[in-house]
Amino acid sequence: MRILAIESSCDDTAAAVLSGRTVLSSVVASQDDVHKRFGGVVPELASRSHIRNVVPVIEDALARAQVTLADIEAIAATYGPGLVGSLLVGLSMAKAMAFARRLPFVGVNHLEGHLLSVQIEGSPTPFPYVALLVSGGHTSLYHAEEWGRYRLLGATRDDAAGEAFDKVAKTMGLGYPGGRVVDELARNGNPSAIRFPRARLKPQRGPERFDFSFSGLKTAVWQYVREHPLDSAAAAADVAASFQEAVVDMLLDTTFAAAHAVQCSRIVIAGGVSANSRLRHRAQEAAAEFAMAMSIPPLRYCTDNAAMIALAAAPRLERGESDPLSLNALADLEL
Ligand code: KG4
Ligand code: ZN
Repeated sequence: MRILAIESSCDDTAAAVLSGRTVLSSVVASQDDVHKRFGGVVPELASRSHIRNVVPVIEDALARAQVTLADIEAIAATYGPGLVGSLLVGLSMAKAMAFARRLPFVGVNHLEGHLLSVQIEGSPTPFPYVALLVSGGHTSLYHAEEWGRYRLLGATRDDAAGEAFDKVAKTMGLGYPGGRVVDELARNGNPSAIRFPRARLKPQRGPERFDFSFSGLKTAVWQYVREHPLDSAAAAADVAASFQEAVVDMLLDTTFAAAHAVQCSRIVIAGGVSANSRLRHRAQEAAAEFAMAMSIPPLRYCTDNAAMIALAAAPRLERGESDPLSLNALADLEL
């Protein structure tokens, strides 16, 4: 089945064409240049950029897949969670196309897309797995028991890890989006130069939870930078590397503890921050040490894309299921 999917939950406009589970094309139009001078995503500007980008991005995805709209058999789109104005652009476009072409339509949860992004290319990752979903808006752990069955094991109690990267980059005057810049700068730094705090959260009572907290670390970096001016490239690189090391320690410690608790020997890391080179390296090292299987998607499927949205929709469409065209965008949609 040929599926056209659209993703517009935050600041990337994306479209993809899949034939079954094979990606024929995956196009992403970034809005980084629009939001850069504000140091973060401005929702109203994001919606307007999606409106400008959505048709060219879809046309590009069709052209690269060497198909026309007449070859498409089903349409999928992200309907939450995300910025409601952004979501509405891709979702309305998808519903309009499904209506006009009389095609089945399926709405996809963005988080499920990320959890399945590891299945897009290469050999499939068998269920069950513990998935760390770590992006600009989310830092959560799920037990992915099977396709469509995900149990939340824990989540951040304050900032998402990607948000911490973006805010630290802003504190250090590195620009936006921060994750990639900090990652690059940290390559020349010493990760043990500064001992930033690592939050370890233990539940007081009730079932065991595997939560995260990054606001203390973010504040510690802010304080450090205030007291120690970044007067050389080496000093900045050490701060970036030391901050990044603290994030990676917290992410991996909690993820491995959760996998141990649910007796799962397979871990998946997905979402924008899974593009981080230090996280990818240390995750593979830790997996080898503890004899666990570790899957992280290729870089282009770590950050937001529509291939993962098409993939999440595929089994439902293949079963003949669809969603009504009255499906609305839900900013706080949970998994
Ligand atoms: O998944 P994503 O594209 O969008 C959301 O759904 O949030 O993730 C974007 C986040 C941003 O916070 C960005 O700074 C972070 O992922 N990011 C990185 C890297 N590349 C992107 N963080 C750390 N290291 C990277 N290489
Ligand atoms: Zn995302």
